[in-house]
Amino acid sequence: MNSFTFYNPTQLVFGKDSIEKLPQMISQFTDGKKILVTYGGGSIKKSGLHTRIMNLLADYEVYEFGGIEPNPRLSTVKKAVAVVKDKDIDFILAVGGGSVIDGTKLISAASKLDNDPWDIVTRQVTPTEVVPFGTILTISATGSEMNAGSVITNWETNEKLGWGSPLVFPKFSLLNPEVLYTLPANQTVNGIVDSMSHLIEQYFNEADNSAIGDAMIAGVMKEIMAAGRVALAQPDNYEARETLMLGATVALNGFMRMGYNGDWATHNLEHAVSAVHDIAHGAGLAILFPAWMKYVSQHQPARFAQFAEDVFDVDQQLSESAKVEAGIKGLEDYWQSIGAPSRLSDFDIAADDFETFADKTLFNGPFGNFYQLDKEAVIAIYKLAE
Ligand code: NZQ
Repeated sequence: MNSFTFYNPTQLVFGKDSIEKLPQMISQFTDGKKILVTYGGGSIKKSGLHTRIMNLLADYEVYEFGGIEPNPRLSTVKKAVAVVKDKDIDFILAVGGGSVIDGTKLISAASKLDNDPWDIVTRQVTPTEVVPFGTILTISATGSEMNAGSVITNWETNEKLGWGSPLVFPKFSLLNPEVLYTLPANQTVNGIVDSMSHLIEQYFNEADNSAIGDAMIAGVMKEIMAAGRVALAQPDNYEARETLMLGATVALNGFMRMGYNGDWATHNLEHAVSAVHDIAHGAGLAILFPAWMKYVSQHQPARFAQFAEDVFDVDQQLSESAKVEAGIKGLEDYWQSIGAPSRLSDFDIAADDFETFADKTLFNGPFGNFYQLDKEAVIAIYKLAE
C-alpha cells in the first residue's frame, strides 16, 4: 500500500430521528442567523421534506435557492453565489442528492472569492475559506454527503469536471433512510449502480496489497446488491434503504481507499458522455463499466478473476478466463435484472460522438491508475458499449 493519512471531519448523523437534529447541528458551526437552503427541482416540496425543514429552521432567517439540476451547472452555481454574497449568508443547508450537494460545495467555496467559480474547478485558484454548509441527503448514490469532491458541468463548453478541497467536506450530513421511499425506481437503480461503481473503481487499484480494502469492498457490494433487490420490490422497506444509504456513503468517504487511489478511468469515461448528453451518471456507469472490464481484463486478467471470486463467489476450480467471464457477466446480469441500461444506443448515443468523448477524457493525457488508457483504448471501450 501507499503511505496514507485518513481524514474525514464530516459528522454523520444517521437514523429516523436524524433530520430533527438540524437546529442543534447548525448551532455548532455558526452563531449567525442567515441560512440559505439549496435544493433541486422540487422533489423535496412534493415529499413534504421542505415544510419539515422550514419548521425546524423557524428561529433562523431563511433564504432559498431551488432549481439545482441533476448534473449541476456552473451557470446555476453562479446565481446562487450571488445570493450568498448579497444576503451575507452564514450557513448553507443542501437538501438533495449528489447534484445539490456538489453544487453547494462550489457555491460555498466560490462565495468567498471574486473569481469565476469555474476557476476553482479548473484549479486556477485554490479556495482558502468557505461558507460552512451541511446536508440533508435525499438519494443514496454519490457519497458526496461525506466526501470533499464535487462534479460540475459547464454546459457552455460541454465540460464536466471534478474538483475537491478538504474545506468542502460537509460539516454534517443528516441521513434518514425513510426519505428514500419517494425515489422513483430509476433513481434507486442509478444510486445502486453509482455506489457499486465507486466500490469497483477502488477494487481495481494500483496497490500490491489491498487485502483489507478487498474484503470491505466485496462485503459492502454484496449487501448493496441484496438490499437493492429488496428496495426495488418494496420501496418503503426501511432495512433495505438503511443498507443502501450507509453502503453508498462508505463506498466513497475514504474508508475503502486507504493506501491506494483506485482506477477511476470509468468515471472519466462517463463524465465525458454526460457532459455532452445529459444522462444520469449512474445510467452511464451501468453502460460503461462492463465495457471497461471487457477491455482491461484482456490485459490484466488475474485481478478480474479475483473480483469474480470475491464478489460473485465463482467456483475456485474454474480456469482464470472462465472466472473473468463469470465476474463480468455476474455484474451485467445483476444490473440488467434491476433495470439499468446496458448500451449507449439506449440513449441514442452513436459512434459519431466517440472521438469527441475520447478527446474530453484525455484532456490531461492517458488516465486510469490500475490500467492506463490511451485514445485507442478509450475508443475501443466506447465501441464495446455502443
Ligand atoms: O431535483 P429533485 O427534484 O430533487 O429530483 C432529484 C433528481 O431529479 C431526484 N430525487 C432526489 N432525491 C429524491 C428524488 N426524487 C424523489 N424522492 C427523493 N427522495 O433524483 C434525481 C437525481 O438527483 P441527483 O442529485 O442528480 O442524483 P445523484 O445523487 O446520483 O447525483 C448525481 C451527480 O453527482 C455527481 C454526478 O456526476 C452527478 O452530477 N457525482 C458526484 C460524486 C461526488 N461528489 O463524490 C461522485 C459521483 O460518482 C458522481 O460523479
